[in-house]
Amino acid sequence: MSITQKPIDFLWFIPTSGDGSYIGASDLNRAPDNRYLREIAVAVDRLGYSGVLLPTGVSCEESFVTAASLAPFTERLKFLVAIRPGTASPAYYARLASTLDRITEGRLLLNIVVGGAPAELAGDGIFLPHDERYDHAEEFFQVFEDLLATGKADLDGKHIKAKEARLGFPSIQQPRPPLYFGGSSDAGIEFSTGRADKYLTWGEPPEQVAEKVARVRKSAAAKGRDVSFGIRLHFIVRETDEEAWEAADRLISKLDDETIAKAQAHFATASDSVGQQRMAALHGGRRDKLEVSPNLWAGIGLVRSGAGTALVGSPKTVAARLREYQEIGIETVIGSGYPHLEEAYRVAELLFPELGITTLPQRTGFGSEFSQRTVFSGGGHQTLRAVAAS
Ligand SMILES: Cc1cc2nc3c(=O)[nH]c(=O)nc-3n(C[C@H](O)[C@H](O)[C@H](O)COP(=O)(O)O)c2cc1C
Repeated sequence: MSITQKPIDFLWFIPTSGDGSYIGASDLNRAPDNRYLREIAVAVDRLGYSGVLLPTGVSCEESFVTAASLAPFTERLKFLVAIRPGTASPAYYARLASTLDRITEGRLLLNIVVGGAPAELAGDGIFLPHDERYDHAEEFFQVFEDLLATGKADLDGKHIKAKEARLGFPSIQQPRPPLYFGGSSDAGIEFSTGRADKYLTWGEPPEQVAEKVARVRKSAAAKGRDVSFGIRLHFIVRETDEEAWEAADRLISKLDDETIAKAQAHFATASDSVGQQRMAALHGGRRDKLEVSPNLWAGIGLVRSGAGTALVGSPKTVAARLREYQEIGIETVIGSGYPHLEEAYRVAELLFPELGITTLPQRTGFGSEFSQRTVFSGGGHQTLRAVAAS
């Protein structure tokens, strides 16, 4: 098997801060109602996605609780749950993680996100400057991992103190559920290569992703560790390239320049995240230069922080772009699209066949006359009645 035919591990996103058909506009919005999130989880479980990412932050529904609410309605889906050190103690998070891993029968993945908005972090009682947040995270995960692996932890650290911490019930996955990490600063990469199993990047152009992959590999090798890679991207896939670009334009068609300027100014002052700075630099707040690399469109980043780029095109085009990322070393893709339910279907129905990802088998009835193809291509009702009468 050549490297470009390797399977892609494809996850989807649960929009716990809301969803909609247009970004930066107030119409056709959807609240993150738990029943709507459940619809998405049930759909993507059936469509062949391997997991879902649940983010964390003040604008999101809480990630662990939401994952626990969705898990019973799914069979195969893994839950990549964001964990932000400092929002609770490591011992408490170890209990949350081991319970959720048992509830999901070993389907928990954890995404370590230290957070990049000092004012938001202050609301959670975290007042550390950027690099020190990673020193704090290092101590936090020492206790967290010790507890999951052995049921015991003790640490008299600079940031974390835990005295005879105990965990009553172990997680199913041992020594712990897999740890993912998202962050682009030197301090973040240094921290992650000592702790995380998978390094995640937002959807930067392939050359920039390659540069980060090289940095992460070098840092991991120096510690004798092996890290795999994933990318977080939006998708706008349609039957033709033209239709996909039209859909991209439509997505930001109700977005005005004032809203863009406000959002960009806010990100510039409210965030100290290097990853966010790299994403903002791709488009510079300008809507006339949004294709920042072939088929990589930065329109979403005009008003959304974090993941701000989409792969746009026909199934063949988008699959070819994903293969380019794969050649750099990306094995995991965390996709999304607006609205997340409909776009989960589009990606699965249009793109998955190009990637060799199989959805759950569809029921087609007793004979070929009843197959979906016959029903939809042959006039439905009449065809069925004719068959029934024969
Ligand atoms: C795939 C991915 C997912 C992320 N999810 C979150 C999240 O849910 N909440 C959050 O506060 N930050 C999230 N982040 C952002 C970072 O984890 C972190 O908050 C910050 O941007 C890292 O800063 P740095 O790039 O300066 O190291 C995510 C980053 C990536 C790459």
